[in-house]
Amino acid sequence: MSVLTVAMPKGRIFQDAAALMVKAGYQIPPDLEDSRKLIIDVSAENMRFILAKPMDVATYVEQGVADIGIAGKDVMLEEERDVYEVLDLKISECYLAVAGLPGTEMKDVAPKIATKYPNIASSYYREQGEQVEIIKLNGSIELAPLIGLSDRIVDIVSTGRTLKENGLVEFERIVDITSRLIVNPVSYRLKDQQIDLLVNRLASVVEED
Ligand code: PRP
Repeated sequence: MSVLTVAMPKGRIFQDAAALMVKAGYQIPPDLEDSRKLIIDVSAENMRFILAKPMDVATYVEQGVADIGIAGKDVMLEEERDVYEVLDLKISECYLAVAGLPGTEMKDVAPKIATKYPNIASSYYREQGEQVEIIKLNGSIELAPLIGLSDRIVDIVSTGRTLKENGLVEFERIVDITSRLIVNPVSYRLKDQQIDLLVNRLASVVEED
């Protein structure tokens, strides 16, 4: 049996994803993310984990250097990828929303929208029939309206704490997000039994609504 390479997202999704794997009976070390190591072999499971930035997980899977990966639906919506999305893991629930300073109107002409998700934000405003200027940022998006860089932000809301602590409010909810199991199409052909087993084991422990 060949080794299955799994791209895991570092950061907030990681703990939920690792917990789900453990629940599905995989013996993965609890301190997987604690070290600075980026490649961890778990020979007992015939698996190799690579720890990637969440936005990059789909790239590793699409390129075939990882057979499977765990990626947020936000990442999948933002960048079209040639991968199979095989299972909604129903972990790391959050949503994408439009937020800004309370009591403010968007500028009539070319309002500015700051976001880590330029494609999602563009199509959202296109559907609304509004012409906006998208400003791409890489993090701390909530700063933008506070310092006058943008009229609104399009960003992830999880607990709502970041918005609240920065005096921002949510205006519209765009889409609900959970993490997904994604698979490289060629890997799915070559390692179908191994991958099916993993998908089934994970599916059996996914929390039903
Ligand atoms: C995300 C998101 C919000 C925050 C929402 O940022 O962009 O800023 O989490 O979470 P909350 O509703 O629970 O407060 P993240 O911490 O991933 O870092 P970033 O600012 O680098 O994007």
